[in-house]
Amino acid sequence: MALAMKVLCFLVVTYFGICCATVYKVGDSDGWIQKDYDYYKDWAWSKTFYVGDTIVFEYKPNEDKVIQVRSHDDFRSCNTSDPKSVFTSGEDSVTMEKPGHHFFVSDKHCKTGQKVDIRVHHQVVPTPAPAPAPSPSAPSEAPGPSPSSPKSDASTVKTVEGLFVYLVVGLFAFACVGY
Ligand SMILES: *[C@@H]1O[C@H](CO)[C@@H](O)[C@H](O)[C@H]1NC(C)=O
Repeated sequence: MALAMKVLCFLVVTYFGICCATVYKVGDSDGWIQKDYDYYKDWAWSKTFYVGDTIVFEYKPNEDKVIQVRSHDDFRSCNTSDPKSVFTSGEDSVTMEKPGHHFFVSDKHCKTGQKVDIRVHHQVVPTPAPAPAPSPSAPSEAPGPSPSSPKSDASTVKTVEGLFVYLVVGLFAFACVGY
């Protein structure tokens, strides 16, 4: 009995640890190319990202790069002089390991809007992202934390789902403690 419970606990914990990671191709079928100024902002806003999700940038490697910058300021001004990471493969997978904002810009076309701010939520139970010092008077371009964005419906649904999953996991964790 105890062994069966251990196995069950292991399976459940493993399952919830890996089940929810999603892979997103940035720009969907268009990939990482120059588009209208707000294209990637709209794209990111239409999604809800969680820790563990992966985003993939697809482009012709000789034509561009993906540069991850450290701050919202660098993102806004397309300042790539002190990048966090540079991706050049043309098939760049980046896994979101921390909640908060992750800023990626095109090496060539950042100034014309080819850049994306990936706001990542805590896994399972979505909480407002701990925004790293956003400017209070956000210009229209800044995709800062906006609780009343169009995706709020989807977020609400996910929150309910998330709470449920959280409860189930919590119950199992509680049950597993004894074993
Ligand atoms: C770009 O970023 C670097 C490093 O953070 C900083 O020293 C520099 O002043 C910035 N340049 C501009 C134009 O903001």
